[in-house]
Amino acid sequence: MADNNNTANSSGSSGNGSSKRCSSCGRPESEVGRLIHLPNNLEVCQDCMRRSIEMIGNVWNGMDPSNNPFGNLNPVQEKNKTDEKSEEKKDEYEDNDSIIEMLKDFKSIPMPHEIKAMLDDYVIGQDRAKRIISVAVYNHYKRLSSRYKENKAVEELMGKDKKLTEAEARQQVASESNDPFADVELEKSNILMLGPTGSGKTYLVKTLAKLLKVPLAIADATTLTEAGYIGDDVESVVSKLLTAANNDVFKTECGIVFVDEIDKIARKADERARDIRGESVQQAMLKLLEGSKIEVPMGSGAGARMGLVPQATVDTSNILFICGGAFSGLDEVIKKRLTKSAAIGFNSSLKDAFDEDDDLLMKTTNEDLRNYGMIPEFIGRLPVVMSLHALDRDMLVKIIRDPKNSISRQYQKLFFIDGVDLEFTQDAYEAIAQKALEKKTGARAIRAIMESLMTDLMYEIPRDRNIGRVIIDADFVNKQGSPKVEMKDGNLLPG
Ligand SMILES: Nc1ncnc2c1ncn2[C@@H]1O[C@H](COP(=O)(O)OP(=O)(O)OP(=O)(O)O)[C@@H](O)[C@H]1O
Ligand SMILES: [Mg+2]
Repeated sequence: MADNNNTANSSGSSGNGSSKRCSSCGRPESEVGRLIHLPNNLEVCQDCMRRSIEMIGNVWNGMDPSNNPFGNLNPVQEKNKTDEKSEEKKDEYEDNDSIIEMLKDFKSIPMPHEIKAMLDDYVIGQDRAKRIISVAVYNHYKRLSSRYKENKAVEELMGKDKKLTEAEARQQVASESNDPFADVELEKSNILMLGPTGSGKTYLVKTLAKLLKVPLAIADATTLTEAGYIGDDVESVVSKLLTAANNDVFKTECGIVFVDEIDKIARKADERARDIRGESVQQAMLKLLEGSKIEVPMGSGAGARMGLVPQATVDTSNILFICGGAFSGLDEVIKKRLTKSAAIGFNSSLKDAFDEDDDLLMKTTNEDLRNYGMIPEFIGRLPVVMSLHALDRDMLVKIIRDPKNSISRQYQKLFFIDGVDLEFTQDAYEAIAQKALEKKTGARAIRAIMESLMTDLMYEIPRDRNIGRVIIDADFVNKQGSPKVEMKDGNLLPG
């Protein structure tokens, strides 16, 4: 920073040019650490900055949090404020906590078929993926439960015999337990989820989040960069989980993190530039995936980015990571591999068959992922690889028609508020699905098609309070006719 430009700084430079002082408390930079540069040539130390933000935060408390430019700072302050009180209350709170209750009582852990049944209400098809994720979540609970019980026993033992080291206590617990697998440590199996765009990856995890008893955070790999560059460090992923767990470190360490758009951190082809969003991010994620103790800021607002909020140490070894991505272009990599082996082999006509195959991603191997730009160490830390199917026409029909929150039911509700029954014929569903299929963006296309179909109707219908029923058929969807409109007195409106 050019010191000679600092003219208006009241207590800024101390004269020798190298040691700047905090404009607020006057302490030198050498004592308080790097100063934060503010407009009007003010430089303040982190302590003073934190105090000012806390003061502002107090004023903001009680106001609408969305007006608070420091976003998530308030929960942290709230937490700090109540820290003393919560210290005594902690045990009571922990005893009542639903996660701990669940970990204590194995029977209360939902079984895989129960988790899948809950997912079935919302997510159509993708049976294999739902099974895999249900088992993964169930095993995650089991692992937490076994570790929780073991830790409790170790703690108790160390409480009784103060001379014991943790390792000794652990050994004693294992030897005294009547569990033949007491010394077997369950390790986690992180998941890599592949699937074409609009096939339900994000939706599956979001639905899961609603059903889970442990915190789940969804982070986006597109914003991640190597530490020190503009963007978020990989630790921000865990920070999100900490926020989802209300800054409770114990709960955070039991959580699940979904890192979406993971394909965006594939190694970039340009080898001349430093790959700060690709390979470096993969490298940085290795330690998170595997399990390590990291320091993360409590909260994710402006204060957290400036390092002004308290840090928490989170051990990621029990956090389950699910990484998901569309991996566009991976089908070409797979096709290349398959055609190569087909050309060497006996049946070269197979080559064309791959062009037609919408479900090539199901054939993904680690070699394909490496060729796509994922580093072997990264793939190695995601031992469960699952692929979602490209949605076919029948699945799209079901998505439009069946889920509790299906798009057709959403429009029916909108019409119902106007006192109108909205009906879709089966061939209308099929025609909409066909249109969506042609757009090749999976279920994502459905909403746009429905919007363009229904806008004029939604404009006209409220005009006439006599309209009782509207029936959408395939002709209307294909723009070859109008919808059938029935009046409340039973007469049909001529189309
Ligand atoms: N299998 C499904 N069952 C029900 N709805 C689905 C399904 N797949 C997709 N959808 C609907 O499509 C929307 C988009 O899906 P989603 O966001 O999960 O796509 P994605 O696989 O994450 O795609 P992208 O790779 O582009 O992010 C969801 O909000 C949901 O409404
Ligand atoms: Mg997505």
